[in-house]
Amino acid sequence: MSTPSFRNATALELAAAFDEARSHTLTLFDCFAGAGFDVPDKVPRLAHLSPPLWELGHIAWFAELFVLRGAASSNPTDAVRASLLTKGDEWFDPNAASHSARWEAGLPAAGKLKTYCREVKERVQDKLEHVGNDDAALYPFRLALAHEYLHGEELANTLQSLGVILPPQLAQRSIPPWSLGEIRFPGGTLQLGAARGEGFVFDNEQWAHPVYVPAFTMDSTLVSNAQYAEFVADGGYENPRYWSAAGRAWLMAQDCAAPRGWTRSSSGWLCERFGLHIAVNGQEPVRHVNLFEAQAYCVWAGRRLPSEGEWEFAVTNGHAALRWGDLWEWTCTPFEPYPGFEAGPWRDYSVPAFATHQVLRGASFATPERMRWPKFRGFALPDRSQMFVGFRTCAY
Ligand SMILES: [Fe+2]
Repeated sequence: MSTPSFRNATALELAAAFDEARSHTLTLFDCFAGAGFDVPDKVPRLAHLSPPLWELGHIAWFAELFVLRGAASSNPTDAVRASLLTKGDEWFDPNAASHSARWEAGLPAAGKLKTYCREVKERVQDKLEHVGNDDAALYPFRLALAHEYLHGEELANTLQSLGVILPPQLAQRSIPPWSLGEIRFPGGTLQLGAARGEGFVFDNEQWAHPVYVPAFTMDSTLVSNAQYAEFVADGGYENPRYWSAAGRAWLMAQDCAAPRGWTRSSSGWLCERFGLHIAVNGQEPVRHVNLFEAQAYCVWAGRRLPSEGEWEFAVTNGHAALRWGDLWEWTCTPFEPYPGFEAGPWRDYSVPAFATHQVLRGASFATPERMRWPKFRGFALPDRSQMFVGFRTCAY
């Protein structure tokens, strides 16, 4: 039986899920510690990551803010109570601690932050013993859990970015080879977004609204390394005809002619996978490509990316051959609010990303089971590829 979603989890299930999530977070943190990256000074200052020590403190700070400090929003001035840490807000509020400050903040050592994490988690679990089992009462708990899941995946991305070996429980979830194929969908009207009364929802999923999707054809699987390598071999990165204006601008600022982490060897392409250089497996989906690369491949192949409506239509209508959830997938849809959007209590989640980010759909091998949902909207800047992301193509 599959693990139930966190969105409908009861108080009892949430208490257990916090234990699982925290043990996962600490396992990831210990991987960084093993490589010397538990000290911020030793972590390269890359734009798309934060020092793991900061992530650890921030995860607990967020749960403390919403569950224990009774904050009505992610702004700590909305909290009713102070943090257990004297400088909790200064260190771990992402608005107070700018990206570069996360290396400078003089954060407490790992041992102290682990104690803080444990203290917050135990108090959260104590509170769960006395809370009602309704969506409103469980909202802050579910939000804090989802936030830890999202940061857990970010930490797994950071393992890849820093070349740290993956812990065994994630390594086991490697991606089996795929068979290629296409599925024809008849199209129709889809209720895009989350319906009311379905448990926890993120603000950007609110609310379900009818969207007409014309008939379309979609790949049953993601574009494979072998397919993408043909594009590379055909001079895909040298031919401006395949690239959008923004894609060409990105390409000119890079020195790349293949996906992130690919290098040529005498026996073929190698890729970097959690610190190891391994032969590119032609059958696996291509990963770590940005939106521009995905779009350029589509132009070259005479295909296009699916819209998020098509993606949700395909996945919610179900088809035995349709496979998703191994890597996030680029769509052709810019990240925008649904009609009637109202910002949720986590103010920094969706609103700052609208209009600049692109919708990602699906999940990845590093996404916890409880987090997977066909209506979940991921989002990322078009030039980012450090996430576990790939794409599939479509045609009319
Ligand atoms: Fe966060």
